[in-house]
Amino acid sequence: MQTSPTPAVQCIGVPRETFHGEKRVATVPDAVEKLVKLGFKVAVESGAGDAAHCSDDTYRAAGAEVLPSAAALWAASDIVLKVRPPSSDEVALMREGGTLIGFIWPAQNPELVQQLTARKATVLAIDCLPRTLSRAQKMDALTSTAGVSGYRAVIEAANAFGRYFNGQITAAGKVPPAKVFIAGAGVAGLAAIGTAASLGAIVRANDTRAEVADQVKSLGGEFIKVDYEEDGAGGGGYAKVMSEGFQAAQRQMYATQAKDADIIITTALIPGKPAPKLITAEMVQSMKPGSVIVDMAAEQGGNCELTVPGEAVERHGVTIIGYTDLPSRLAKQSSTLYANNLLRLVEELCKAKDGVAVVNMEDDAIRGLTVTKDGAITWPAPPLKAAPAPAPKPAAVPVAEKKGGHGHGGPVPAKNLAIIFAVAALAFWFIGAYAPAAFLGHLTVFVLACFIGYMVVWNVTPALHTPLMSVTNAISSIIAIGALVQIAPPEAAVNGRPGGLILWLAFAALVLTSVNMFGGFAVTRRMLAMFRK
Ligand code: NAI
Repeated sequence: MQTSPTPAVQCIGVPRETFHGEKRVATVPDAVEKLVKLGFKVAVESGAGDAAHCSDDTYRAAGAEVLPSAAALWAASDIVLKVRPPSSDEVALMREGGTLIGFIWPAQNPELVQQLTARKATVLAIDCLPRTLSRAQKMDALTSTAGVSGYRAVIEAANAFGRYFNGQITAAGKVPPAKVFIAGAGVAGLAAIGTAASLGAIVRANDTRAEVADQVKSLGGEFIKVDYEEDGAGGGGYAKVMSEGFQAAQRQMYATQAKDADIIITTALIPGKPAPKLITAEMVQSMKPGSVIVDMAAEQGGNCELTVPGEAVERHGVTIIGYTDLPSRLAKQSSTLYANNLLRLVEELCKAKDGVAVVNMEDDAIRGLTVTKDGAITWPAPPLKAAPAPAPKPAAVPVAEKKGGHGHGGPVPAKNLAIIFAVAALAFWFIGAYAPAAFLGHLTVFVLACFIGYMVVWNVTPALHTPLMSVTNAISSIIAIGALVQIAPPEAAVNGRPGGLILWLAFAALVLTSVNMFGGFAVTRRMLAMFRK
């Protein structure tokens, strides 16, 4: 008998980043251990992690082989993990038919894509991940990188700013808190809001997408709205270019904020478009001397007219920081998060944990980020299929159907149903004719309660069961009070009213059940609030 040969275990290689000043590395020793557990061999170029404080020895201890040169590393690797897009020299070192995973930005780098196809490469661009797929969030390197940048932007601002962020009252005098204005409340902007607020500053923020207002508030900021009705949501969670009218109203608002703010951090971007110019030279001039602007959109042309990409400059007494390497300035943190994102991606590629990566083009997340497959360009990926319509909800099944002995769960035949009803009617007639009147009343209430309870519980979406349970809990408390009053026997009553002990018992029960009652309603409110948008 002939069996197909098992594919050889693949080697994942991590070269040292060659882009000038880049300190990040595509994987860290902790992630190497997990890649080895997935069955892969791992090779790291000597010194690749030095700038991110990951030494060759720590990689070796995690199970990687450390290779002396870039040439040796690229030659040994079936799959290369990188941070920045490769240079032409690096592409030349790549194995024919190899796989490359990293930031590629195919729209901005068409030549690079051509070079990679010439190497018959399979290229997975982490920047092309469909971010709206919730399954893909663990691989979302854009989000983890933007989070680091937002944090670092505040730290850079604090470094250049000559005062405290938080307000203080000291014997030497009163220090007002710094006022920070954040333009654009996407991932980076929200990280900046959280960081600045936690340092004690007064934080205000603006975004063209009105939906972020609540997120700004939840991080301790105040959302400043532009006095113009237009929503900036351009689909997929991104912004669109705004109308002239909106832009004029926005400039007016920004001019007011610029006069008041000590620090402005701009993060506004629109995919595929130059960064919107939000801070004019006049606004910079109107700021207090010693103020700071951090322009996180510097690489895409800048949100401030006076930004110099990659540099910190002083204009009109204001420091304008246009660094384009914010994630690299927090190299260890960025590398760790990035390594985890790539590890999650490799896990998706190697579900069999046999050290062999399989690029499954049927998988929406993998399809989205595949730029070339075995040398053929597959970018851009077709738009994501809409989520399949939920299967039609089966109609509520009556109890009789389930107990009817029809193993397949099909409808109860009309004949059987008629017999069940006839027996039930006969039983009710018998009880009505012979049982005491009080019993009949209780029985009616009991049967109706069972019916309502059944309908309520079975017809409610499972996600809402817990809030529902707390409501019924609260209601059952009311019933408990009623029951307490009911059970007071007539002989305990003095002049038609319950006796002392019963009264105290009823009072204690009332106190205890009211805790349960109001607690039930309070829990319900909180739970239902979680389902509201
Ligand atoms: P980004 O970096 O492209 O843009 C940054 C921010 O600038 C955005 O919030 C945008 O609305 C804002 N902006 C653009 N033009 C502006 C203007 N003229 N004035 C003021 N603000 C302006 O976006 P980022 O941070 O990469 O993601 C944006 C959004 O995408 C997130 O907030 C989220 O809603 C969504 N997203 C969704 C994910 C998911 O569903 N899993 C994952 C990641 C992001």
